[in-house]
Amino acid sequence: METEFKHIPIMLKEVTSGLNIRPDGIYLDCTIGGGGHSEEILKHLTTGKLIGIDKDQDAIDACKQRFKDKSNLILYKGDFKNIESILKELKIDKLDGVLMDLGVSSHQIDSKERGFSFRFDAPLDMRMDKSQPFSALDVVNKYSLNHLTRIIREYGEESYAHSIALNIIKNRPVNTTKQLAQIIENSMPKKVVFSRNGAHKKTFQAIRIEVNGELDKLFETIMFLITKLNKGGRMAILTFHSLEDRIVKNAYKINATDCLCPPGTPICICGHKKSVKLINKKPIVASSEEQKENPRSTSAKLRILEKL
Ligand SMILES: C[S@@+](CC[C@H](N)C(=O)[O-])C[C@H]1O[C@@H](n2cnc3c(N)ncnc32)[C@H](O)[C@@H]1O
Repeated sequence: METEFKHIPIMLKEVTSGLNIRPDGIYLDCTIGGGGHSEEILKHLTTGKLIGIDKDQDAIDACKQRFKDKSNLILYKGDFKNIESILKELKIDKLDGVLMDLGVSSHQIDSKERGFSFRFDAPLDMRMDKSQPFSALDVVNKYSLNHLTRIIREYGEESYAHSIALNIIKNRPVNTTKQLAQIIENSMPKKVVFSRNGAHKKTFQAIRIEVNGELDKLFETIMFLITKLNKGGRMAILTFHSLEDRIVKNAYKINATDCLCPPGTPICICGHKKSVKLINKKPIVASSEEQKENPRSTSAKLRILEKL
């Protein structure tokens, strides 16, 4: 059965050239999704190999179908947080390139029954991994006022977090995307609802990040994967909001800096040596043509490093 999976890969050329692919290299796509970036990576490989991971079985099924003729692609359904044990299981010690294209795919957002979007009325869900028991229903119906406020404020950077959380709790049980969207609208002044391009976006993003633990262990995973890169190996990470980008920027910076002693320390006592160089000091953003064609690319930032 053909699994339809719609997702336009973002900054495809920039990502592929940024990875500086060796035809005989070992590459890891931590978030294979519909395989748009992976297809380009595979085109550059001869004797090399690509490992493609995703926690969404739909993505793995779609890639199995799309790449059925590719014997140099290993697909793995799993969470990149567990990359250390996944690489051990696959008996892979070193990598020549790593790609992370963080967040959700268009397939996930546009599948009504996955309950990610306020554009469709559907049961709240938002799980990338459908085998995970914990969903958006648990977050909106079980969290305390403080917990819910904190999630919406921190992960959504939403200034009406308290009022939204309070109204969610008053209206429990909250079961559907439209119900949640209505509660969010009712929790902020009408002029704010009209002035924002999508009044619900920030809260939906916050709940999605919480459901999927999107920021958990991201820093540790990047730090670990840098240790796995061969000399000259590249890492390319695409982020879609400031919380993710901050984590990536910080992990890159630590690895690209010689001494991590507190400012003002007269001589270095930490002995830390940089292990990477940054290929781009400022994040790469999508061209204006791409932003016009694919609005999802507007918030994307690409950071690339190379192992020394
Ligand atoms: C933006 S899409 C990737 C799209 C892909 N680059 C393409 O060109 O089709 C992100 C994918 O990463 C997956 N994902 C997000 N967090 C993950 C994690 N921690 N472990 C594994 N997969 C993850 C999602 O399920 C989604 O399919």
